[in-house]
Amino acid sequence: NSGGGCASPPKLAKKDHYKVGFSQNASNNPWRLAETASIKEEASKRGDTLVYTDAANSGDKQVSDVQSMIAQKVDVILLAPITEKALIPAVLQAKAACIPVILIDRDVDHTLASPNKDYVTFIGSDFVQQGKRVADWMIQATGGKAKIIELEGTTGASPAILRKKGFDDEVKSQSGMQILASQDGDFNRDTGRKVMATLLQAHPDVTVVYAHNDEMAIGAIAALKAAGKHPGKDVIVASIDGEKDALNAIINGEEGTTVQSSPFFGPVSFQTIDQYAGGTKLADWIVVKDMQFTKDNAKENLPNSF
Ligand code: AHR
Repeated sequence: NSGGGCASPPKLAKKDHYKVGFSQNASNNPWRLAETASIKEEASKRGDTLVYTDAANSGDKQVSDVQSMIAQKVDVILLAPITEKALIPAVLQAKAACIPVILIDRDVDHTLASPNKDYVTFIGSDFVQQGKRVADWMIQATGGKAKIIELEGTTGASPAILRKKGFDDEVKSQSGMQILASQDGDFNRDTGRKVMATLLQAHPDVTVVYAHNDEMAIGAIAALKAAGKHPGKDVIVASIDGEKDALNAIINGEEGTTVQSSPFFGPVSFQTIDQYAGGTKLADWIVVKDMQFTKDNAKENLPNSF
């Protein structure tokens, strides 16, 4: 198709079975693996064909993955964009090829592409709220007195931008709370550990670590211990995701809280495909609801974690 002739966003014809593209941005942590498993499970339950790609943490590869799905003429693309900007060309190329795109888990920059126009909708968590929930818990836990090191997610990724905003804005209201340093740990355990080890040398007086995901928090706990600190006692650690290792760290007292970021996108994504094909006008953002885990509920939620 030349692209001139389709609706904006492109329509999806109703079918019994779809050929669905799922472009994953990486597979380097339990959260990503849980998301992929959820999508694969739902596709196979429905007898849909899934064209799955893993961009291995590269924006360029993810763009070419989407281009290959366009060439394979998938009916619809589920896209988890690595950063807000890198996948804009791919979103626009899919639109030009009359293939609807549904963003899942991470959003794109709305000044460059819009929901209900360039793509169908964004299905994902409220990342600002996640950051705010960690901050509110931290204010309670510390009585509003803290020297904080913040480990940020991948630069330019929507959860990194918004989890920072939600947390930092809330902490600003507390005169006794100070962010000593805030640095990119790429949502990665070992990078989180290394960044934390370096930051600890400049800021040995840290009392709180806020990591944008659990993997970096687990890395930070290792760095704190290696430096002779006692996470959970002299340094309070909190993060986001709700993975098994974080719940276990809460149970053994080394982590204070993790706000869930649900990776279980399979059911909601395929329901959204059905609704869209059925002609339902979808919201610009389909909000995924998240829990929060602390010592009060970590154990009972361990069996459902990933
Ligand atoms: O986009 C969601 C975030 O990306 C998760 O918090 C993180 O673990 C993942 O890599």
